[in-house]
Amino acid sequence: MTLLKLENVTKRFGGLTAVNKMSFEIEQGESIAIVGPNGSGKTTLYNVISGVYFPEEGEVIFEGKNITHLPPYRRAPLGLGRTFQIPRPFSSATVRENVAVGAMFGTLSNKIGVDESLETADRYIELVGLSAHIDKEAGSLTPTEKKLMEIARALAMKPKLLLMDEALAGMHPKDIDKMVVFLKKVKEEENIAIVSMVEHIMRAVAGFAERVIVMYQGEKLIDAMTAQALSDPRVVEVYLGHPPEGTHA
Ligand SMILES: Nc1ncnc2c1ncn2[C@@H]1O[C@H](COP(=O)(O)OP(=O)(O)OP(=O)(O)O)[C@@H](O)[C@H]1O
Ligand SMILES: [Mg+2]
Repeated sequence: MTLLKLENVTKRFGGLTAVNKMSFEIEQGESIAIVGPNGSGKTTLYNVISGVYFPEEGEVIFEGKNITHLPPYRRAPLGLGRTFQIPRPFSSATVRENVAVGAMFGTLSNKIGVDESLETADRYIELVGLSAHIDKEAGSLTPTEKKLMEIARALAMKPKLLLMDEALAGMHPKDIDKMVVFLKKVKEEENIAIVSMVEHIMRAVAGFAERVIVMYQGEKLIDAMTAQALSDPRVVEVYLGHPPEGTHA
């Protein structure tokens, strides 16, 4: 069954159309990168999928259920996990506690207690390589470590779809390579779909995504398998700041 379906989704801020008539489908277990230049609408789209914003038009369907107007906390138990472009940890809580919160509010929220949440947290903290920091205050982590903790927290929600906004931005290339390997492994082992919003086309996209959606001025410009999308001349034009052929900029 289709995991996520967007139908003609439009989100405006006053007179500005940040996302314009976006439609696409995501199947279980797919890995997709949504790329586009600054301001092309990636974070807004992400917020519409996760429920931070409700669109003016269109529908968001998750596993056949219309979730267009559900608040974020009601999407998480359905299996929508997410990270933030700017991590927002509970700074004075420990890494372990922060990740356990994910388990408590995720798909298992009604089924597991505190002890199991902490055990789940331990597992994902180990998986992202933060075991040495498990009892540290989250506020003391480096920016990269905070991003890893965000990912562990989102995974502890046991999502069917993991949404990541710029989760790899600012990381050292070596760490990005490690994350790509890690995300592929997680995707296979947990059988989840991963959608990542990425600011720039980089090694992470080519390494991680099976499919790429290119956004330009709020619209879907390209939706294709990765190799095909990355060799599309319109992608280069978009990143060089030229309006791609067939659009009106
Ligand atoms: N809360 C808001 N209020 C008004 N305008 C907004 C708001 N959020 C985003 N925008 C505008 O919507 C457009 C799309 O922004 P968005 O943040 O979704 O782009 P993005 O692709 O994530 O960019 P970046 O690569 O810089 O993260 C931009 O013109 C932005 O200024
Ligand atoms: Mg953004």
